[in-house]
Amino acid sequence: MTLFSPLQIGNIQARNRLVRSATGESAAELDVGCPTEEMIELYAKVAAGGVGLIITGHTAVSIEGRCSDTMTAFYSDDFLPAFTRMAEASQAHGTPIVCQLNHGGRQVNPEHKHIRPLCPSPVEADDADFLPEELSASDIERIIDDFAKAAGRCKKAGFDGVQIHSAHGYLISQFNSALTNRRTDHWGGTPEKRRAFIAAVYRAMREDVGDDYPILVKQNVSDFHPEGLTEGEALAICKMLDEMGIAAIELSGGIAETIPIAFREQELKEKGEVVFFEREARAIRPEIRCPLILTGGIRTLATAERLLAEGTCDGVGLCRAMLEEPDLPLKWQRGQQ
Ligand SMILES: Cc1cc2nc3c(=O)[nH]c(=O)nc-3n(C[C@H](O)[C@H](O)[C@H](O)COP(=O)(O)O)c2cc1C
Repeated sequence: MTLFSPLQIGNIQARNRLVRSATGESAAELDVGCPTEEMIELYAKVAAGGVGLIITGHTAVSIEGRCSDTMTAFYSDDFLPAFTRMAEASQAHGTPIVCQLNHGGRQVNPEHKHIRPLCPSPVEADDADFLPEELSASDIERIIDDFAKAAGRCKKAGFDGVQIHSAHGYLISQFNSALTNRRTDHWGGTPEKRRAFIAAVYRAMREDVGDDYPILVKQNVSDFHPEGLTEGEALAICKMLDEMGIAAIELSGGIAETIPIAFREQELKEKGEVVFFEREARAIRPEIRCPLILTGGIRTLATAERLLAEGTCDGVGLCRAMLEEPDLPLKWQRGQQ
């Protein structure tokens, strides 16, 4: 397996194993979320840079679930033409594109129009000055349905697949975590009950998009918080989703409060490169059948090739390196560093 050999994710054929990891554009129509011309041009540029697969920036499944006023969202069929053009801008370069679907939960700016801070339990974030609203049983059912409908719209718009955002402390991550999920009903109380939400989201999406449409997930390996998601719980989520038919698992870690620790900011600054979740990927890889994508801290061709050669992962995710150089995959293919 080499970096420039194809990667199969469900029925997606990526020409190489480099994945442009989800990167929020913060460029959607203000207070609405519909993709703009600027975003369509951005995806054409990234796709032309030779990457195997693009994951879009996180896209809210409802207007209330956006994190900020310029976040992308896909809660209306009216946005189908814009999303279709976005998908086509990538595919015109032979680059498949997957839309990342999210709900911000409590990690949102509640001062922005239409945004409603919600959480499985009313637990205030360390750096926030507001208390999120505890989700009612009917809100939970509605949000599951929002995820399913958004996935259906992505399929209609021609995206090659969708990715569930179950990382970085947003709503699904909040359900998975004992820190923010203190419920005692069907959705909380034990690790099995906490992961019932992502299972329900996956099932509802699958019902909407059919058996063959690729559904991927970005999953935290840990919350890096004493009360949050543990490595064992993360592994159990990966195994459950793998058994349910997830097309690929991308690994990340951390929640708003712990991102600087999870993303090893200090070490990265000193060394220039550090693979954040290599140890965790090695533990998870043998436990699942679907492709594993490892993202975080990877900056060089040599490291990307090493991770694949050692069988740590099947695909390598890049965010910041490609923000700086969207054509990095083409450069690496030509042997440039
Ligand atoms: C500007 C920016 C926007 C990001 N937006 C998202 C996002 O929308 N969804 C997501 O899952 N991760 C997002 N991330 C995290 C990246 O996908 C990635 O997991 C993280 O930056 C570590 O990878 P890197 O070292 O290659 O940058 C974002 C990161 C940055 C720097």
